[in-house]
Amino acid sequence: GEMEAPIAGETATLEELARSLQTCTRCPIHCNATQAVPGEGKAGARIMLVGEQPGDREDLEGRPFVGPAGQLLDEALAEAGLDRAQLYITNAVKHFKFEPRGKRRLHQNPSTGEIDICRWWLDQERALVRPDIIVSLGGSALRGLTGKSASIASVRGKPMTLEGGERLVATVHPSFLLRLPDRQRAAAERAAFIADLAAARKLA
Ligand code: URA
Repeated sequence: GEMEAPIAGETATLEELARSLQTCTRCPIHCNATQAVPGEGKAGARIMLVGEQPGDREDLEGRPFVGPAGQLLDEALAEAGLDRAQLYITNAVKHFKFEPRGKRRLHQNPSTGEIDICRWWLDQERALVRPDIIVSLGGSALRGLTGKSASIASVRGKPMTLEGGERLVATVHPSFLLRLPDRQRAAAERAAFIADLAAARKLA
């Protein structure tokens, strides 16, 4: 098909973007992270998944969603009838933000300022991948995609259209499911998460 010219000053391919990302110093998070973690998947994927930021494992491996949250996500995707290999999976923020605690590195939420700065990269990924549907996993992803802060509950189950023309399906972050202490509540929230993913598949 016809190639769309990228916006001036931006990268032409996902490979180039992944390389440029490694030298990013737009916000302070890069100072402590091992590496930037670019999205994974092919340009032309119909569904894009957006998480928050790389975790400990992702920071070390350089790939999104390969730790505990990724394992839960993989299971949920399978139950929703989605093949991870067919998706484009990325994060709102590309470096791991953490607080050292002994030998452990504790996840810290990125600030809205950091999310907004990193939108430079997310917008380019959207322009290069050109998905029809974007699934936001949690509040940081929603902020990175819309530039506004909103509760998941206020947008969940109401697919809306983003400025780029993509349909947005907003759902919770898989890490939220991992933190629920009540078994019954956790099972219900997991089922709702899978239902959101299945809704995205049906839109595609
Ligand atoms: N959580 C995220 O939001 N993204 C990852 O890549 C891993 C965990």
